[in-house]
Amino acid sequence: MTYAELLKHLETYGQTHLLKHWDVLTADERSHLSGQIMSVDFAQLAKLRTGETKAVDWKVAAPKAKSPPAVRIGKPWPYDAAAAKAAGEKALRAGEVGAVLVAGGQGTRLGFDHPKGMYHIGPVSDATLFQILLEKIVAAGRRYGVRIPLFLMTSPATNDETIAFLERHNRFGLAENDLVVFCQGTMPAVDMATGKLLLASSSELALSPDGHGGLPAALSRSPAQSIIRDRRLTHLFYFQVDNPLVTMCDPTFLGYHILSQSEVSTQVVAKQDPAERVGVLAEIDGQALIIEYSDLPEADAARRTDDGALALWAGNTAVHVFDAAFLLSAAAGAGELPFHIARKKVPFVDDSGNTVDPTEPNAFKFEKFIFDLLPVAKRTLVVEVTPADAFAPVKNAPGSKTDSPEHVKAAIGAQGRKWLRAAGAEVADGTIVEISPLFALDADQVREKIKPGTRYEKATYLRSDE
Ligand code: UD1
Repeated sequence: MTYAELLKHLETYGQTHLLKHWDVLTADERSHLSGQIMSVDFAQLAKLRTGETKAVDWKVAAPKAKSPPAVRIGKPWPYDAAAAKAAGEKALRAGEVGAVLVAGGQGTRLGFDHPKGMYHIGPVSDATLFQILLEKIVAAGRRYGVRIPLFLMTSPATNDETIAFLERHNRFGLAENDLVVFCQGTMPAVDMATGKLLLASSSELALSPDGHGGLPAALSRSPAQSIIRDRRLTHLFYFQVDNPLVTMCDPTFLGYHILSQSEVSTQVVAKQDPAERVGVLAEIDGQALIIEYSDLPEADAARRTDDGALALWAGNTAVHVFDAAFLLSAAAGAGELPFHIARKKVPFVDDSGNTVDPTEPNAFKFEKFIFDLLPVAKRTLVVEVTPADAFAPVKNAPGSKTDSPEHVKAAIGAQGRKWLRAAGAEVADGTIVEISPLFALDADQVREKIKPGTRYEKATYLRSDE
């Protein structure tokens, strides 16, 4: 692209400021910037910013929302947990299950300058999130006598460091062709007041990951899609990088999904406090969906039923099972996901070449959410789990009141204590025994390995690699 061609293209959309620094750029920088500019859909951005692409008005929609039917702890359901577990285990043994990890987020709230998966969270071992999560996949594969492939989505912000880190650690035991890393797309940040795209440097647009809803499109651009087909994977167990307590490829959850012929299933936890920062599973006019916490009006978050329980109780753990064919059909464009708009502080380079670090939100960022596939699915299912068993995400910096590394480490320790005591071991209160996934994935496996009466009086890391 010549300068004149680029200028003409940008004039149409009022974005010529992007070439302000052209004179001082090297040939490589010019070709980089021109490539970025040509990949932007300016018409779409303009529509998103002016509201022409309608976002849902949650003030109107949320009051109509009610909680969907769900498999609730201790309540009857057409299939019991044992039948569900058997169905899930059968699918696992048959090699029908793959794992999908979304790890493209920038982890800004945690204040960690690397991919979040590299964060050290093991209370005794100091293991990283990636180590715990990948070892859980390896251990689940061993348990069911199969190889469970992991499809790991990164973003340009996390891709290279993630790959280098995982290779340095031999993928924590996953075989080379059981790890498929692919990179999600990006969206430009746009000045809130003017609609102009922001420059991160004189030769670089300010881009950010396009949200985990970029997953279907990213799958379709990568070899992952054909690997899913070639390996005949029918169920994809989806989880986030921030939750080391996840019950990896949970057979009971998989079984409920399979027996219900669901296309998208979601694990939920019962919200205790209206202000908890989790999305809620809901139903509006008979349609399943998730209302994100930032969209849910306070009055609806606090709404209660006659028995005093929160009306929208089902907090999204972001652990799903997708029917593989359904997810791949979304990749083929069957389900075009909407964009969500967030107001963020985005540093940028101004027309004079100075870097501006805003103190107030100055820009719109655009993200797609994977759970917007729920309304597209023919059948969905919601399954409740206990947070202490399956959900302790690390979101916020050390010292924060909620979802901090300290909370997560305590939750890992509490789970270890619970499993050991169930096996008849004695664990002093407050003693942290961290159980490596390679040692045991649940209380049953702990029982097979621990003699009743074994005492734990100091911090211990139980690990075995056989
Ligand atoms: C998310 C869910 C929320 C749920 C909560 C549970 C969204 C929008 N909301 O909130 O409903 O209750 O988790 O913990 O997801 N990611 C990408 N690419 C991106 C953006 C994010 O891969 O472009 C990944 C992150 O790496 C992370 C996950 O998505 O693994 C969640 O992202 P995050 O922004 O932390 O979501 P939350 O706001 O915590």
